[in-house]
Amino acid sequence: MIFDVITIFPELFEPFCNESLIKRAKKKGIFDIRVHNLRDWADDKHKTVDEKPFGGGLGMVMKIEPIYKAVQELKSEARSPKSETNSKIILFTPRGKKFTQKKAYEFSKLDQIIMICGRYEGIDERVARYIADEKISIGDYVLMGGELPAMIIIETVTRLIPGVIGKPEFLAQHLISKKGEACPELVEGFLEHPQYTRPEVFEPAPGIQWKAPKALLSGDHKKIGEWHNKHGKIISK
Ligand code: ADE
Repeated sequence: MIFDVITIFPELFEPFCNESLIKRAKKKGIFDIRVHNLRDWADDKHKTVDEKPFGGGLGMVMKIEPIYKAVQELKSEARSPKSETNSKIILFTPRGKKFTQKKAYEFSKLDQIIMICGRYEGIDERVARYIADEKISIGDYVLMGGELPAMIIIETVTRLIPGVIGKPEFLAQHLISKKGEACPELVEGFLEHPQYTRPEVFEPAPGIQWKAPKALLSGDHKKIGEWHNKHGKIISK
């Protein structure tokens, strides 16, 4: 899988892409994150990517041409001669559809995700209308731009790709044991139960005891399984 990020602040992604789990998975070739500077597709000598808005107003508006060219080039680069590339172009905006765990699962099945990180309040609306396949919001608040949303998509999606972390199969096992039958559709929105570790009893002050649940200390696998199922949470279907 390839994540292509189009941004005017590529340096923001350096520490993120070098974080240990992401770095290791990239090295193993499980996925790739390619961060691109939008200015590379500007065609004047000043590398202009924004202009004053039509009709006047404060601030600048990001131009459609460099974004269009970037998307076209990145899409054709990922195209495979043998099979259809399953790719999606995402634009981040607080007006978009709310990002959920279910969406993360949907995205984890793609071959390529091209993410356009606009600066909010300043991107030619034709990018949303004609270029983006999906407009995504990460919550009902306004950020300066799409860079943090892009990192959130990368992090939520990559942890679902087999081999990045060991958890998804583990979750599936829990749901199977709960119902006595396979129910993989539920796994898509399932949050694992809370975890505890030693000490069994923590005493922050004399007379105060914060205890780990008895069921988890029982050594009885059936009881432990029941506790896990009871305390897991379904966040989206
Ligand atoms: N850009 C600015 N605010 C945003 C949000 N909440 N979600 C996605 N993109 C944004």
